[in-house]
Amino acid sequence: MGVVALMVNSTVPDSVPAFTGMDMDKPSTASEASSGYQRREPSGTPTGVVAPSGAPRASRLVLVGYRGTGKSTVGRMVAEKLGWTFVDCDEEIEKSSGRSIAEIFAQEGESGFREREAAVLQRVCQNKHSVIATGGGVVLREDNRRLLRQEGWVVWLRAEPETILQRLQQDPTTPGRRPALTTQGGLMEICTLLVQRDPLYAAVADWVVDTDQRTPAVVAAAILAAFVDQQRSV
Ligand code: S3P
Repeated sequence: MGVVALMVNSTVPDSVPAFTGMDMDKPSTASEASSGYQRREPSGTPTGVVAPSGAPRASRLVLVGYRGTGKSTVGRMVAEKLGWTFVDCDEEIEKSSGRSIAEIFAQEGESGFREREAAVLQRVCQNKHSVIATGGGVVLREDNRRLLRQEGWVVWLRAEPETILQRLQQDPTTPGRRPALTTQGGLMEICTLLVQRDPLYAAVADWVVDTDQRTPAVVAAAILAAFVDQQRSV
């Protein structure tokens, strides 16, 4: 509860710090090579740069990143430790529409889903003291990116394409929540979309953490420590 007392809602500055620990390597699979995806060097510890001291305090912690990077699982853990409310944007979309995400995609297309996603984001960004797990495509809209940067301390959860594919295949919520986004499917879809989206995640992120070979508990602890540090320094 001591942490909660530190939180005062404010805004996040426009400048995003340069990230460290992002050394690139050669692509190692055919999908990566043909999509243009650049493999990263694995790092031993969570990587990230905390927003520069002087950044205002935040009353929302927002998790962004591709499907399967652990936003919902980790978000729940972080919220519990902070004593904050946890909000999952995908769940909110399903609750408000009374349909699964796969059904929304089938009936309204991706554009219909993106409208609903933007509306839910606007709504959940009004609640203070909440940890918000966003859907992997939330950063596609500029208005969403602006809102995220204004309203929260944003953490980008990253993972390599093979890790993502494995997690998606093992997650029982994938069929209802994660319809195909391209005709490519599999690793190729993931690599192609990571090439498009990584710069967008980077543009909104105050902090970044690699989730490959780390349990959700380890990732949650790293995020929490960084967040508390950052909030103490402002
Ligand atoms: C999407 C990711 C999904 C969900 C929808 C679209 C995307 O959320 O919002 O299937 O475009 O990457 P998760 O990132 O929670 O899987």
